Amino acid sequence: MAAKVWAICTNKGGVLKTTITTNLAGILSKTKKVLIIDTDMQGNCLISFGKNPDQQKLTIYNVLVENVPVEKAIVNVHKNIDVLAANDDMDLFDFDILMNIKKYPHFFMLVKGAIDKLRNKYDYILVDAPPYKGLMHGNILSFVDKVLIPFQPETYSMRSLVKMIQSIEEFKKQHNPTLSILGVVATLVDQRTNLHSQVLQECRKYCHHQNVRMFETYIPRSVRFASSIAYEKLPATLTDVKNPIVMNYFDLLKEVQQFE
Ligand SMILES: Nc1ncnc2c1ncn2[C@@H]1O[C@H](COP(=O)(O)OP(=O)(O)O)[C@@H](O)[C@H]1O
Ligand SMILES: [Mg+2]
Repeated sequence: MAAKVWAICTNKGGVLKTTITTNLAGILSKTKKVLIIDTDMQGNCLISFGKNPDQQKLTIYNVLVENVPVEKAIVNVHKNIDVLAANDDMDLFDFDILMNIKKYPHFFMLVKGAIDKLRNKYDYILVDAPPYKGLMHGNILSFVDKVLIPFQPETYSMRSLVKMIQSIEEFKKQHNPTLSILGVVATLVDQRTNLHSQVLQECRKYCHHQNVRMFETYIPRSVRFASSIAYEKLPATLTDVKNPIVMNYFDLLKEVQQFE
């Protein structure tokens, strides 16, 4: 078994990185073994499965900074879904590593060094990224094979997407030649607003020009959906498969899997 290793990654918060990660994991888990790696101090991956990341004795922080074997920090949250959790210890990650740079000379290789050995234990490894481009993004891009970029169409979001794509291409050249962009997926889309359709059109044009895939499937904004999932202890793809918003995750996975 050689895992497909993807990151759900962009330098923005609130654009559905975690929702995509956990919901794709939910669908995949019906037939495949999945590991979710949470790298964001908010710890929302574990919360999505009804568990409290603050009660987690060992997290990704202990694995990366203190060399704790990764197997010890992994928790099973559902049939076929394991999580390497994060919590607010990760707030210290950049500082602790950069303060002790002699101890961690390969500071972009910490995730790869600790977790690569799990590639033959899972079918999919999904890495949920934090919303800023720091040390962790470097670690993620050194480890994964493919990046899925969520994109929320707002006034200034094209500019940051352009930079994100450029920086992944640059990173690929310098650090990880096997890295590629799986594609861009539009999120929180309100088709009724002109701004959204305009920005999405601009985005499609840009992606086409750059030879970056932009998926046809998008995730619509739905406040009702957000509040209906707020108290669920499982991702919606495991609890509410008939919900029209949830169907989009099935479509997205189908589309993504054509290019995995
Ligand atoms: N389709 C949707 N429409 C509106 N809000 C949503 C939708 N799906 C999820 N949300 C909510 O949006 C918020 C941000 O999503 P999240 O996945 O945590 O983003 P990120 O990981 O990029 O910060 C969460 O509170 C989530 O419940
Ligand atoms: Mg998140």
